Amino acid sequence: MRTQAIRVAPSLLACDLLNLASEVQKMEAARADLLHVDVMDGHFVANLSFGLPLVAALSQMTALPLDVHLMIANPQTMAVRYRDAGAARVTFHCEVQADVRTIIAALKARGSMVGLALNPPTPAEAVFPYLDELDMITVMAVTPGFGGQAFMPSVLPKVSALRARIGSRAIDLGVDGGIDANTGRQAVAAGANLLIAGTYVCAAPDRAAAMDQLRRGTC
Ligand code: DX5
Ligand code: ZN
Repeated sequence: MRTQAIRVAPSLLACDLLNLASEVQKMEAARADLLHVDVMDGHFVANLSFGLPLVAALSQMTALPLDVHLMIANPQTMAVRYRDAGAARVTFHCEVQADVRTIIAALKARGSMVGLALNPPTPAEAVFPYLDELDMITVMAVTPGFGGQAFMPSVLPKVSALRARIGSRAIDLGVDGGIDANTGRQAVAAGANLLIAGTYVCAAPDRAAAMDQLRRGTC
């Protein structure tokens, strides 16, 4: 039985970047639950996107919690800086060559909520050792680096396995990449309670309606 409400975190990556302030205001008006900020370093993923200055600027202009997704190779030095810049929650990838537990502890010491993300080929078991320390787990349904990619249904069993393993822990289980009304429903049916969506929400003529539709994705 599902006990957690489904929440939606629109990704800014698909927004009109030349009008970012107005885009954020539109997301607030459309009742986004969180604002997902994709940080890429050109090393961990084959693309560059946003960085610390943007997170700092966003934190000054919106009350929406900033959900910062670090697709970077060196979270051991950078993750806490994103917290200091104003992130409410910081998610980094469990595939990084770094001491995951140390990074989690450093973020927690600064009062941050902490998430771990898994790339499509990474098994659920990779995050099992950290469950008692996490606030969020993000299952990538695309190879990270770019918005607008097709959802990989092959990750759904991993979502279910994580939901089962999470048990009664207060951990948000998110799915990121290729989320629309149809794939969002599948993700929720598999056990997700947080849907991260860029293209679908940003392109919707009525973003509030699009996010409400995602929230209704009951199984
Ligand atoms: C992919 C990012 C996603 C992306 C989602 O690297 O982590 O958050 O912005 O965008 P869509 O919804 O377009 O797949
Ligand atoms: Zn993301």
